[in-house]
Amino acid sequence: MTERIVLDYNNMLAERIGEHGISSASIDTAATRFSAVHADTQQRRDSGELGFLQLPYEHDVVEQIRSFADGVGQAFDTVVVLGIGGSALGMSALLQALRPPRWNELDDEAREYFPKLYVLDNVDPVTVGALLDRLDLRRTLFNVISKSGATAETMAQYLVVRDRLQRELDEEGVRGHLIFTTDPEKGVLRRIAAAEQISTLPVPPAVGGRFSVLSAVGLLPAALVGIDVAALLAGAADMIERCGTSDLRANPAALFAVLQYLAQTEKGAPMHVMMPYSDQLAGLSDWYCQLWAESLGKRKDRAGRDVFRGPTPVSALGATDQHSQVQLYMEGPFDKTITFLAVKQLDSDVAVPRLHEDIEDIAYLGGATLGSLLTAELHATAAALSRNGRMNMRIEVPRVDAHAIGQLLMMLQIATVYAGGFYDVNPLDQPGVELGKQLTYGLMGRSGFEEQKTDAPDPRWISA
Ligand code: PA5
Repeated sequence: MTERIVLDYNNMLAERIGEHGISSASIDTAATRFSAVHADTQQRRDSGELGFLQLPYEHDVVEQIRSFADGVGQAFDTVVVLGIGGSALGMSALLQALRPPRWNELDDEAREYFPKLYVLDNVDPVTVGALLDRLDLRRTLFNVISKSGATAETMAQYLVVRDRLQRELDEEGVRGHLIFTTDPEKGVLRRIAAAEQISTLPVPPAVGGRFSVLSAVGLLPAALVGIDVAALLAGAADMIERCGTSDLRANPAALFAVLQYLAQTEKGAPMHVMMPYSDQLAGLSDWYCQLWAESLGKRKDRAGRDVFRGPTPVSALGATDQHSQVQLYMEGPFDKTITFLAVKQLDSDVAVPRLHEDIEDIAYLGGATLGSLLTAELHATAAALSRNGRMNMRIEVPRVDAHAIGQLLMMLQIATVYAGGFYDVNPLDQPGVELGKQLTYGLMGRSGFEEQKTDAPDPRWISA
């Protein structure tokens, strides 16, 4: 039997940490409200609005992905993903969690002849130029990922890459080095692909960018580097089943959402820190931050009234950030929750040798392992936070494997939809980023956006 992930929320409760914790009575009230949120989620799922809940069952797409990855995909030494936001963060999280550390530094044999994988999610010319200059383009596949096919950053990267490919390869060669992951019908990428017979995979219309990690967006690059996509989806499906209950205390996604919501609305804690004690899970915390922020930070409620709601997610890493942010968490304002991501069984461990046994200050470390130190630091930080009356909880994965990561990704996505229900905002849209996009189009001279041209930045603040 596959092991489940565990949510330990004792340290969120007033009975454990005192006045700054959440009362059982508040959770009981939220449990009653959750019945309606759960029913609404079910109804939105049935109407096809929550496409991400369907992804674990899209067996034909998984077959398409597998056949591309096992066939054409194996002809390349390197895969480069061009995408941004929801079209990049999930993939980066999967790579970091489910492939050995420093994947791109390993030799072919250590990578079992799977390709290297780079995710280019920014348009910083220094980074993009440096990577492209270094690659052997004849041995590189570019997976251009954009659901809309209109995102300026991704499309600019595509134009740069295409030009470089055209300088090295004939028309047929260029086609063979590109695969687009995009809307099945609409958008520029779809048009180009149709006109030039470029391979494509679909992003289902009802799956938004930040909910797309388990679609072809995340699964194709994952399959190309040998990640077990079937196990990922099986883990996600298990979590969907587990969250089928409207009993709040038996539904981990609901508990996570409700505790964060109550922390903000009843205990004045709008800052939600995600702190894995595992380098492998650091990318997952960045992915969560985008999911939580872009989904829940909204001006309007679902009735269209101005409400300006939303929590602020923060990414931290244990034990590294104990020497950076934790001082603030311990003694700063009572405005945060800390969610630890813990790993029950690490992939490997490193023994600490017994050296300098005459030096008391370090002798106690001899005979331990780095893993036991990391775990001790997590427990110590959680206990210290609790003693200081700071809300914290722990999500524990049995180990960092595809099944557990599938569970975790799905739990946090479902939690985001439930949280949208409690905050009474639409978690699936992102109207707030539109204006910035339009002003960029204006500045870059896109036709039709002339009115959106802003003035150049006023430099007064830097002059003496
Ligand atoms: O979550 C989202 O919807 C966004 O972060 C998008 O993923 C991001 O803006 C990229 O969009 P696209 O995939 O259309 O290029």
